[in-house]
Parts: sequence; C-alpha cells; structure tokens
Amino acid sequence: MSAADRSSTIASHLSTPATVFAHVPMSPPDPILNLAAKFAKDQSPDKVNLGVGAYRDENGRPWVLPAVRQADEQLLNDPSVNHEYLPIKGLATFNAAAAQLMFGDSAALKEGRIVSHQTLSGTGANHLGAKFIERFYQFPTESKTIYVCDPTWPNHFAIMGEAGLTVQKYPYYDSKTLSLDIDGLLRGVNEAPNGSVFLLHACAHNPSGVDPTPEQWRQIADAFRAKHHFAFFDSAYQGFVSGDPDHDALAVRLFESSGIPMLVCQSFAKNAGLYGERAGALHVITANTHEAAAVSSQLDRITRSEFSMPPAYGVRLVERILTQPALRAEWDANIKTMSGRIIEMRESLFDLLTNKYKTPGSWEHIVSQKGMFSFLGINPEQCQRMEDEGHIYLVKTGRISMAGLNPGNIDHVAKWIDRVVRNA
Ligand code: LMR
Repeated sequence: MSAADRSSTIASHLSTPATVFAHVPMSPPDPILNLAAKFAKDQSPDKVNLGVGAYRDENGRPWVLPAVRQADEQLLNDPSVNHEYLPIKGLATFNAAAAQLMFGDSAALKEGRIVSHQTLSGTGANHLGAKFIERFYQFPTESKTIYVCDPTWPNHFAIMGEAGLTVQKYPYYDSKTLSLDIDGLLRGVNEAPNGSVFLLHACAHNPSGVDPTPEQWRQIADAFRAKHHFAFFDSAYQGFVSGDPDHDALAVRLFESSGIPMLVCQSFAKNAGLYGERAGALHVITANTHEAAAVSSQLDRITRSEFSMPPAYGVRLVERILTQPALRAEWDANIKTMSGRIIEMRESLFDLLTNKYKTPGSWEHIVSQKGMFSFLGINPEQCQRMEDEGHIYLVKTGRISMAGLNPGNIDHVAKWIDRVVRNA
C-alpha cells in the first residue's frame, strides 16, 4: 500500500462514526406529548389541542396564576434568596406546607410520622415512591406487583416498569356505562394476595374523569384494611374537582385515618400552574419517628444517586403561596377560577351535543365526570378522524382535556364529535 493509499484509508476510518448504537430501535412517540408537536405543525386556523392536561384560559392561552405572579415578585425582591444547593430532601418549609395541604389535621402529621421529600413534580414522586417500595416493601410475591387501575395515566406503566415492578391492571372503568366499575374494582382488590400494592388516583381520575363517590371510597378503604393492602396514591389534581383542596383530599385523608399503609405522590404542576418548574413531593406514612428517619435516609440515598438535590425555584413559590394567608387566599380563588371554567365547559359541551346537535347517545357522563379530563366514549378511528379532518388533537383513548375548550372553539369541537359519532 502506497503512503497515499494508507493515509486515505486512515482518513476514511477517522470520518466513519463507530456503529455501536446501530441496533437501537426507534422508541414510539409518547401518546400524550406527541400531540403537542403535531398540533404545532398544523396550519389550520380551526385547530384545537385537547391533548395534554394543562390549563388554558378562556382565550386558549396558558395562565400564570395571579398568586404565582405575586409570589414571584416577592422572590425577586427578597435579598435573602440565593442559589445555594437545597438539601437532598428539598426545601423543608415547602415539604411541611405540602404535607399540610395533603393531610390537613391528620394524626400522622402531628405525630411526625409522615416523611415528606421534594420531588421532580408528580412524575418524580411516582418514580421515587416506586423505587423505594421496590427496594423496601415486603411484597407478598416475588413478582413485586403493583396493581394499577384500568385505564390509568400511560406513564404509570413506564415509571413502575423502569423501577423494576411488575404492573398488573385492576378493573376500574366500565366502558359500557361510562362510569366506575365498583364491583370489578372491589373484586380486583379482594382477589389480589394480602398485602398487595395498589395505585389509586386521589381525585380527578386521569384519563377517565370518573372518581369513586365518598361512600365508594369508604368501601374501598374497608377492603384495603381487610386485605392489608398498601395504597400508592397519585394526587396530581388536588383542587380541580371541587375548587377546594381540602375536599379533594378526602380519599387520602380517609385512608390515613383508617390506618392503611400508604404513600402519596403530590404534584403542583396543575393546581399551581407550575408545569415546567417540576414542583412536587412524595409523602410516606410510617409507624413512628424512628421508622420515619430510616425511610427518609433511604429516600435521600436514592435521590443522591439520581439528581442529588431538587430544583429550588418552583417550590419557593409554592411555599410562599401555602404559608402566607394573603397569597393562600389568592391561590384558593385561582383554583376556583380554573375548576369553575372547566365545569362551565362540561356543561356547555353537554348542552351543545344534547340540545343543539342532538348527537345520538347520552352525554350525561361529560357533566358527571370530574377534574381536567373527560372520556368521551369514542373509538380510536373516530379520534383519528377528529384529528385528520377536524384539526382537533386528542389522545386516541377518547380522552379530552376540558381545559383546552373555550367559548371560541367549543362549537367546532361539538360539531366534530357529532360528525364522527354519526359517521357523517
Ligand atoms: C397528562 O396526562 O396529560 C399530563 O399529566 C401530562 C403528562 O405528563 O402526561
């Protein structure tokens, strides 16, 4: 080989990238988050995004809560605020206020038995909770199974699976009656081995909008007690059902006062409109302060290996809102504004389908469902047609984010629901 050939071979080696990842398959796009990208590309003036669960005001715009704006102003003008690391478990005053919001007057809180750690919003709380129970909960079987309701937030499968848990579904939603399958749910709870872990949505069930009634929650709590099950609560919408965070904590507080072993994942993405700030907490109820200290130390250990310390900005806002009476009053009013607008949209959509378009079927479920989402009860092909022809983006399960509706687009949406239902 001549010197020139040798140098051209070396050059081509140098420019050829190593192919160590050639076997990596393309992961399917996220069924919820991918809708935003498709929506952004759509040039139609009629386009509507009913995909991601994020509040929009009556003009379809993101809303910075006035309580958040005021807290923000305080933060900017507070000379004591710096950019040092937070502790591994996060901002202690935020954790305490978040626990208070969730558990109210509970005995466990007063007795110092609740371990509260700041997390990367609700997703981070689910992740930390799942990793912790995978490592330390004494599961009744080798498979380390977590039972999740059918349906549930799709990300639960990924989070629990990545943490090493086996995910199994339990009956929850009856697609024929478009309501809670309480018998199926109780059967699932009763048939699982004693001491199983069940994931429960604390309120405003995502994706169905179907919540148990207070009486049904009591039945579920009784069944959990009898079976010694562990409740893994996910609470991402506290305040969105009724406009009152205390009211929406009913299930969590009932389980706590019933002595059911449990943890709670808490998010401030929706109820404080802090989506991008990743403000959340994980609360684990323990039997005594000694146990609490050990659990906390293990949560610290997991967090330290993942991101060391959580971000400070969002939780500083929430801490101010929850601890200053004037800001808290403003926030309470802001939550009422959001939940009230969603309830109005439910009534308006129901009215359009029932009275204006006289769409075949009953649409009663739209008003009886709670929180951010409604399960319309239409199939994936109908959803696809809404997207392709109506420029309306929704998850293929037929879930719509009610907050994406407003007086300017609701008639367009109702018209398309009517069309796809009639197959017209
Ligand atoms: C949703 O369900 O739309 C939200 O919780 C956003 C998300 O992360 O999926």
